[in-house]
Amino acid sequence: MNILGIETSCDETSAAVLRNGQVVSNVISSQLVHRDYGGVVPELASREHERLIVSVVNAAVNQANIQKNDLDLIAATAGPGLIGAVMVGLCFAQGMARALDIPLVPVNHIEAHIFSAFIGKQEESGTPRQEFISLTVSGGHTMLALVRPDLSYDIIGRTIDDAAGEAFDKTGKMLGLDYPAGPVIDRLARDGDPGFHAFPQALTAQSHSSKSYRDNFNFSFSGLKTSVLNYIGRHQPEFIEHHLPDICASIQAAITGVLVRKTIAAAKKHRVSTVSVAGGVSANSALRSSMQNACDREGLRLFIPDTVYSTDNAAMIAAMAELKHRRGTLQSNRYDVAPFASF
Ligand code: KG4
Ligand code: ZN
Repeated sequence: MNILGIETSCDETSAAVLRNGQVVSNVISSQLVHRDYGGVVPELASREHERLIVSVVNAAVNQANIQKNDLDLIAATAGPGLIGAVMVGLCFAQGMARALDIPLVPVNHIEAHIFSAFIGKQEESGTPRQEFISLTVSGGHTMLALVRPDLSYDIIGRTIDDAAGEAFDKTGKMLGLDYPAGPVIDRLARDGDPGFHAFPQALTAQSHSSKSYRDNFNFSFSGLKTSVLNYIGRHQPEFIEHHLPDICASIQAAITGVLVRKTIAAAKKHRVSTVSVAGGVSANSALRSSMQNACDREGLRLFIPDTVYSTDNAAMIAAMAELKHRRGTLQSNRYDVAPFASF
C-alpha cells in the first residue's frame, strides 16, 4: 500500500510516501521568507505553500520510485495550524485524491506528532500495547496526554500561555538570535553552564513549595519570558554577549527541567511504563538526554522520534493514516473535509 502524506500547517511544505509502513520518501521544504520578520507571517506561508506544493509532491512521488497512479490513499493535515496554510495542502490533496479516485484521509497534526515517536520503531508495530504518557512539545502546542492502544487519548495537561517552542523562540529573540531560536539555543547551550542562572520553572511543586502542584500537569512559560527580559535589562550588553552560551544553557535547563519533571510525575501518577516525547522541541538535545536519564532512573521506556520526524514533516501524516488503517478506524472516501485552525 502506497500512502502519500501532505503537511502544510505552518512554514514547512512537506510531502512523503509510506510504502507498507516504511517511509520511502520525506521531502521537507522549510520556508525562509519568514526569517526577516522574526516569526511566521501567515499570508506569506500560504503563498509559499502554493508556490512549492506541486514540486514538493512530485519530488516525494519520484523519490519513492512510483507513479501517481500507484498511490492508494492520500493523507493531509486538516488542522490545527494556520488556516490559509492548512487549506493549501488540504485542497491540493482533495483535488489529487478526486482525480486519482482514491480515498482522502484528514489527519490531526497534533495526533500525528504524538504517534511520530513510533515511526520506524518496528518492535512496536505502530504504538505500545499499553497506555502511555505522551509529551507533545512544538511551536504551537505543549501537551501531556494519556494515550490508549486504540489511539484515543485524554489530555491531562497543557500550556496556559506560551508553548515550549515559543518559550525557546521568544527568549532567543530577546537575545538577538535568529528565528526559530530553538535549534540555535540548543547549539549555543552546548558550550554553556546550565547552572549559571536559575530561571523560573513555573507550576511545579518546587516553584510553589505546595503539594497541590505535584499533580498539576499544566505548563506556563510566560514568567520565564519576563524573567529573561528582566535579566537582560539588568546586565550590560557585553556581559550578555560574553555569557550567551551560559544564558542559553540556563534557559534551556528551565524549559526542559519542567518538561521532564511533569512528564515523569504524570507517568508515575497514571502507573504507565512507557513515555513518548514528540514535536519540534523533541529535537532538543538536552531534552532528549535528560528525559532519557530520568526514564532510565525510573525504569520507564522512552520513545522519541528520529530528529527528522520531530519537526513538521509529512511522513508523520502518512504514518497516522497508516496507523488508523491498521486499527480499522480509517474513514475513507470523504472529500468534503473542512480545515480547522485550533485544537
Ligand atoms: O513541530 P514544529 O516543527 O512546528 C509546530 O508544529 O509548531 O515545532 C517547531 C518548534 C519551534 O518553536 C522550534 O524553535 C522548536 O520547535 N525546535 C527546537 C529545536 N528544534 C526545533 N527547540 C529546541 N531545540 C531544538 N533543537
Ligand atoms: Zn508541528
